[in-house]
Amino acid sequence: MNTSVRREIERLREEIERHNRLYYVQAAPEISDREFDRLMQRLEQLEKDHPEFASPDSPTQRVGGQPVDGFETVTHRIPMLSLENIFDEQELLQWYDSLKKDLDGQDPECTVEYKIDGVALAVIWEGGRLSRAVTRGDGAAGDDVTSNARVIGGIPLGLHTKTPPPVLEVRGEVLIHNEDFAAFQAAQAERGEEPFRNPRNAAAGALKLLDPSMTRRRKLRFLAHGPGYCEGIGWQTAVEFFDAVRDLGIPVTPGTRTAVGRDSLQRTMAELVEEVPELPFEVDGIVVKVSSFDLRRRLGETSKFPRWARAYKWERYEAETRVRHIAVQVGRTGTLTPVADLEPVVIDGTTVSRASLHNRDELQRLDIRIGDRVLVEKAGRIIPHVLRVNVAARTGQEQPFRFPDRCPECGTAVQRDDDGVFIRCPNPQCPAQLRETLVYFASRSAMDIDGLGEKLVEQLLEAGLVDGIASLYRLKDRRNELLKLDRMGEKSVDRLLAGLEQSKSRPLWRLLAGLNIRHVGENNARILESAFGSLSAIAEQSVEDLAAVDEIGPVIAESVYRFFHSESGRQLIQELEELGLNTGTAPAPVDESDEKPLQGQTVVVTGTLTRMTRDDAKQLIRSLGGKPAGSVSKRTDFVVAGDKAGSKLDRARELGVQVLTEQQFLERIGHPNSTPENDASP
Ligand code: IVH
Repeated sequence: MNTSVRREIERLREEIERHNRLYYVQAAPEISDREFDRLMQRLEQLEKDHPEFASPDSPTQRVGGQPVDGFETVTHRIPMLSLENIFDEQELLQWYDSLKKDLDGQDPECTVEYKIDGVALAVIWEGGRLSRAVTRGDGAAGDDVTSNARVIGGIPLGLHTKTPPPVLEVRGEVLIHNEDFAAFQAAQAERGEEPFRNPRNAAAGALKLLDPSMTRRRKLRFLAHGPGYCEGIGWQTAVEFFDAVRDLGIPVTPGTRTAVGRDSLQRTMAELVEEVPELPFEVDGIVVKVSSFDLRRRLGETSKFPRWARAYKWERYEAETRVRHIAVQVGRTGTLTPVADLEPVVIDGTTVSRASLHNRDELQRLDIRIGDRVLVEKAGRIIPHVLRVNVAARTGQEQPFRFPDRCPECGTAVQRDDDGVFIRCPNPQCPAQLRETLVYFASRSAMDIDGLGEKLVEQLLEAGLVDGIASLYRLKDRRNELLKLDRMGEKSVDRLLAGLEQSKSRPLWRLLAGLNIRHVGENNARILESAFGSLSAIAEQSVEDLAAVDEIGPVIAESVYRFFHSESGRQLIQELEELGLNTGTAPAPVDESDEKPLQGQTVVVTGTLTRMTRDDAKQLIRSLGGKPAGSVSKRTDFVVAGDKAGSKLDRARELGVQVLTEQQFLERIGHPNSTPENDASP
């Protein structure tokens, strides 16, 4: 009898920890909160009835711990340094240049991570068991907050491994999700208590609360960003560290990417900044770190900061104001974006009177109402963004906002994207979409047409002088009508026509970016240009061919294919060719006499390689005439599988695609380093 109870208790503990990992580490829960609570209750009951099976590692031991009297001060075995801040992108790039110089001209691989606006915490597991959690304090010593850390969501009480290292110290950030913070603020107001200024203050306060059951109520979370003092475990790079820690069941800062080289660093930073509004928590910058721990040691640190990392920060430029109205705008792909019309308020020297509310889900999350007082910030120091509603300031006069079910410009019933959060007007003839398409086409992100801005686009449409992209290039035949437009004298007309003429010879990626193909902005347009060279070559590709291009996934491939095979897409391309725009040149035909070893072959690299990084391998494949691809398909010629290769390797086996080890790959291409290191003759 008792063995079966013990087995059930063990099974429940494992099950609960598994769901904890799914929820906190992978952000992919399989069961509802209610189902989770039921599992917990069952376990609590069993443990109560059978105290002989109690264990400090049980997930039930997180809750309702005993309050402690004050905190013990603990010295960090390795000091917790902080980061030097940089507020200007150019300065950050200069830092990168100086790093490169210190590394004898070598471009170091860097991780680009969010700088989470939380509270630093060092968490230590000994023999796989959570043994201690210490705040940063003054960097040399901090407070022992272990009992509070035990109730932080996602910090495993036991590491998810059968062979734990003797000591693992992981440093990270304690935070509260914006959503939990909003709920917490509302409850705080209800109780008549002073609200916290921001989620960071609430997290800091909670960590220091002496009563762990209070800590739990604040829904704290932990996200790892680096190693501390460890014994019996080590990594070569930060990327390896993140993978290993995640496998041990510890949540890791999401969104982290790597970059090699100045351009890639700049692009990656821009990507992270762009995704800030989608994050469920607040960030106050981006951290760039050299990934290799060897290089970190070589670069060293000053007394306060490491030389191998910098924080690119934006100040919390924020202010409180009132929502006067909520409008819904229709974008060039038909997306409906709610925008808050605000009482003007000055933030960082400029007046803000509008802020995007992103999408319908965000409206619901914020629970924003017309008349509400809201906290507005400039995310990335530019984009006005509503952080949250000051619920405590509500008077009861606020008006809830109903998201429209018809397009505000053309009245067509709107649809929700199958794969996302956006609500869209599906009418391709929608006047708003046409206007926004033309404005974007002429903008600096696409064709950069001198003299053609939003106001003029509106006038051209109103006067019936244009009805699409191609018609812009026929304006030269309608000079007299142009002269009749508001504020269009000879000079402005000349400027517009010259601007249009010049734009005809812009690089292909600019045209591609301007065509309003879903998922094809500047970045993907450049990738498509370098892979295929011309519009006609892109039009000839199958979805699989497109998806085989590195960084072009199946969703983008599908969208590109659909555009090039639609009636309107085909017609537009033909017209643009006839009008003399640069639609690219086909890549040069392969010279058979100079065949490169991987000419025309599609190769997928996966897992960890030992003698080069994955990026190096891709570069090598390209230089040998091959195409490195991101996903395995029937058209893949072979897969190079390094250590810990996962789903791509499985897929290759499933499809019967040839799999090579790193060694076999080097041999195949006749690489001079293809002798294994341990076999090298003395
Ligand atoms: S690395 C020596 N990475 O920012 C390396 N820190 O001023 C130090 N922070 O105390 C930390 N997100 O609490 C690192 N992705 C991230 C971070 C991060 C937030 C905090 C951390 C640190 C402070 C640095």
